[in-house]
Amino acid sequence: MKVVAVATQKGGQGKTTIALHLAFSAVEAGLKVLFVDLDTQGNATLILTGSSRIAHTPDYTALTASSLFNAQTGRRIKPLATDEGIDLIAPDAQLSEHIKGTIDPHSPELAAPRTVLGKFADDYDLCIIDAPPALGQVLAALLAASNAVITPLTMDIFAIDGAAELLDTISLVKEAENPGLVHLGIVPNQINTRSQDEIATLVSLRQAYGSLITPYAFSLRYAVKAAISARKPVWRSVNGSSHRKAAQEWKDNCRTVLEQLNVLESQQ
Ligand SMILES: Nc1ncnc2c1ncn2[C@@H]1O[C@H](COP(=O)(O)OP(=O)(O)OP(=O)(O)O)[C@@H](O)[C@H]1O
Ligand SMILES: [Mg+2]
Repeated sequence: MKVVAVATQKGGQGKTTIALHLAFSAVEAGLKVLFVDLDTQGNATLILTGSSRIAHTPDYTALTASSLFNAQTGRRIKPLATDEGIDLIAPDAQLSEHIKGTIDPHSPELAAPRTVLGKFADDYDLCIIDAPPALGQVLAALLAASNAVITPLTMDIFAIDGAAELLDTISLVKEAENPGLVHLGIVPNQINTRSQDEIATLVSLRQAYGSLITPYAFSLRYAVKAAISARKPVWRSVNGSSHRKAAQEWKDNCRTVLEQLNVLESQQ
């Protein structure tokens, strides 16, 4: 099982949207997919199950996100099978206790998600982790559990300013916990292709960060928001030329990421 995290501490960059599309894409390619929603907001859980708080009820019997922080958690309790064929580890009320802490390399919590997810490694081809908009212990723990991380970034000055801090956290976890962690790059998202300013910002970002910025990007398209609201990938039920462009872009970019993870064979 390959584990990929979609992470940045900044909110609203497209983590959940990209994580969900990667999951839809992988399932459609015939892969067995585990989706880990480590965000207390439960945005991805809402899209996959119809309720962001599905794991908050006392009668919820599937594996929950907070259980990942206890290395003793075994295989007896399984992730939730959703209608889309994606299995889900959903955020429960206890998850928030793990989000707060600052990074403590000696805490058993840091290594626990890697240990617990490892117990399910034979059940899945790909595990996708949707990160919360936070730095700190949870981010460090999910990076420690991942083979790769991808970082969406909008052309927003505050988001761009925060990117360096995330890169520092990735380097820190790589050095201290997970030397094999691969940063697939910063993927520009929500690019307004009609704005000369945004295009110029993207060009200067590419100059400043070089190959850290992925050669592919996601444009700002309403069809993406509409599709996620309708709980489906943007390439389903395509209607109109703008939607068609969005569908092609998301299909191609998700495929590229899956190929980079070596869970899909390259078509080239
Ligand atoms: N390329 C895009 N085109 C249009 N809308 C987009 C695009 N990418 C994301 N969005 C929209 O932007 C909003 C924020 O995206 P999303 O929830 O995926 O970000 P996030 O990084 O997961 O946020 P949070 O940090 O709060 O979890 C959502 O309404 C989503 O539908
Ligand atoms: Mg999110």
